[in-house]
Amino acid sequence: MNTDNARYEIGKSIVSDGGLRVEWVDGHQSRFHAIWLRHQCTCTFCGTPHNAVRGIRLHHISHDISIASAEVSGHSVKIAWSDDGHRSVYDARWLRDHCYSKQERQVRKHRPVLWDSSIGADPPVVSFKLASADPHARLAALNAVRDYGFCKIVDAPTEAGDASKLIELVGPQRQTHYGTYVLSGKKAVDNVGDTTAALDPHSDETYRLSTIGITVFQVLQPSATGGESTLVDGFEAVRRLREGWPEDFDLLTRVPITAHRIDTAHNSDGQERWYTSRMPVIKLDCDGDVSGVRLNERQIAPLEIDEDLVEPCYSALRRVLDILYDPDLRITFSLGRGEGLLFDNQRLLHGRTAFTQGSPARSVLTSSVNLEDFHSSLRLLQRQVGVDTISTVLCQGISV
Ligand SMILES: [Fe+2]
Ligand SMILES: [Zn+2]
Repeated sequence: MNTDNARYEIGKSIVSDGGLRVEWVDGHQSRFHAIWLRHQCTCTFCGTPHNAVRGIRLHHISHDISIASAEVSGHSVKIAWSDDGHRSVYDARWLRDHCYSKQERQVRKHRPVLWDSSIGADPPVVSFKLASADPHARLAALNAVRDYGFCKIVDAPTEAGDASKLIELVGPQRQTHYGTYVLSGKKAVDNVGDTTAALDPHSDETYRLSTIGITVFQVLQPSATGGESTLVDGFEAVRRLREGWPEDFDLLTRVPITAHRIDTAHNSDGQERWYTSRMPVIKLDCDGDVSGVRLNERQIAPLEIDEDLVEPCYSALRRVLDILYDPDLRITFSLGRGEGLLFDNQRLLHGRTAFTQGSPARSVLTSSVNLEDFHSSLRLLQRQVGVDTISTVLCQGISV
């Protein structure tokens, strides 16, 4: 018997304390509470959360719900309920893939791979042409974004009219007032991307309540000299902060940092915008693991925080910026025509070196895909190539 079979093979099912205990052939034991099982019955009446067409309501289920009988039948468990005689069937694979023991929840949780500047020697790179033709190559690109927070792209379109083809590999474009933004030399500059100055690592658009997810960055025409792209792993930076300065780390998970943006009409779709958000720099998930990092020094507005926290907060901000700006964490890409980057704006910070404008002028497109749409593309693609991912729990970013 291979290990996969053993994992999904039920050795024994026992009714215990009104719930179900399952002993699996690989030795794992699962405990399912009666209310959890009853609420997830997917019979024709009860329905499924996949489409939210459901007949079951919590008030239909008695508070002292318990299992009258459970019986293993092939690769499923059949249950009869004590209160109303309702019957439910649960697939063994489904049960194991949703077992909520601490051990199995840890197995299902996706773990990002943290990195420092040494990843620059061998960064993930995928050809746009290959990824467009071969779902496995496309999956390699999306998996790199999931695992490392970025993927370098080569062989990408160089005409602005074809720009959406790279975005579509990741998911539907998020429509903001910027649209697909062309970073270039402009007469009236109020977007720093349109200058030729060096930019320290930063997150984009921290002033939004729903921060942008995956940035799709394409070089149509590189600058004459300079203008190299830089990336920093925000997760590795805050891991170092947590290890060395736990009080600063803790503060940055709790204290809201205000970010503002007043966007003039000529910058985008012709409409003026005025955004403000107040959110901590570091987002933790319910297990206490980092799920998002968001900081743009240039967008920090007057802080609205308790007066006792002002100096500690500024001290913590200096500390995390020292780490984020440390060359030991930074990788630098000299992206040519038809090259680009996909990166997770809720994990990585990006910047660029200064450049001199040549002729033709540097022209770079930037647009984005929401994190949930990226996750959706990833799941659908994994299903297409036959990877079972129904139970993988992906990092939910900064906004939730
Ligand atoms: Fe930026
Ligand atoms: Zn049912």
